[in-house]
Amino acid sequence: MQTVVSGIRPTGNLHLGNYFGALRNFIKMQQENDCYFFIADYHSLTTHPTPADLHGNVKSVLVDYLAAGLDPEKATLYLQSDVPETTELYLFLNMNAYKGELERVTSFKEKARIQPDNINAGLLTYPTLMAADIIIHKAHKVPVGKDQEQHLEMTRTFANRFNRLYNVDYFPEPEAYNFGEQLIKIPGLDGSTKMGKSEGEGNAIFLNDEPEVIRKKIMKAVTDSGPKTEGEPKSQAIENIFALMKALSAPETLDYFEAEYQACRIRYGDMKKQLADDAISFTGPFRERIKEISSNNAYLSKVVNMGKEKAQASASKTVREVREIIGFKKF
Ligand code: TRP
Repeated sequence: MQTVVSGIRPTGNLHLGNYFGALRNFIKMQQENDCYFFIADYHSLTTHPTPADLHGNVKSVLVDYLAAGLDPEKATLYLQSDVPETTELYLFLNMNAYKGELERVTSFKEKARIQPDNINAGLLTYPTLMAADIIIHKAHKVPVGKDQEQHLEMTRTFANRFNRLYNVDYFPEPEAYNFGEQLIKIPGLDGSTKMGKSEGEGNAIFLNDEPEVIRKKIMKAVTDSGPKTEGEPKSQAIENIFALMKALSAPETLDYFEAEYQACRIRYGDMKKQLADDAISFTGPFRERIKEISSNNAYLSKVVNMGKEKAQASASKTVREVREIIGFKKF
């Protein structure tokens, strides 16, 4: 049995890009692995959310995770801040993380560029906190996207450095878990290649969007003036509509509109109407469960406490052993 760890920053509700990316695969992984899925609320403090936003955003992600099918009985589903052992390991790792290497991290440079007035130490040490998240459970596998590969590489560096410094073989080297073929990339509705929250209003379809909202967003999606000659390649915006249809609609529906496109007869209005219907039915069960779960505080509290207990059991064992290795002794 492999130990898998993954974290997600709490930035509000999840969209279809999140679902077809990681989430759908997490649901499969929880069957065969010892999975720890947590909400990285400590990490989110690097951008100074207000207290009300912080709690609301954590809750949205938790509810969406549960509604999508993460099973708190199978996987360990927890809040990062419920396991303060993580911060102790983070402190230990920071003693062996160097300013130069942290400053060279791409995500740090990018964040420093975006928020020049808030280049805080938490931002600089984001990779050591992430490494602590991962190695505190002695993870073997970390399902991460391309943008997190450098962080994972640093996790390996910090884990190996610890082992070398104390001459132990304690932390395993965590590897990236690549979903490969199973990863369906969902494009945005604005003609861009990625569905994302930060890409602007209307680009993403959220799992909790109401039917009218979904219909409005899809009907507004960017298209072009249509193919003029047979075999004309599709523009990016049209590729996107087809990609969404491939993910959400029946294969016959996709085939029908593909043929219409090839014959230069396609009416994008009709296609979008169909896509809206299919997106509304696809998200229906999510919408229902999100409503149900988000109003059930007793259930949420039970889930969070269960996760906290399981994650703490694993984390406190690691921190106890690490303290021993470092040389802390009882009098
Ligand atoms: N940095 C990750 C992101 O932005 C979130 C994260 C924090 C994470 N700790 C982690 C992911 C540990 C995997 C493992 O998406």
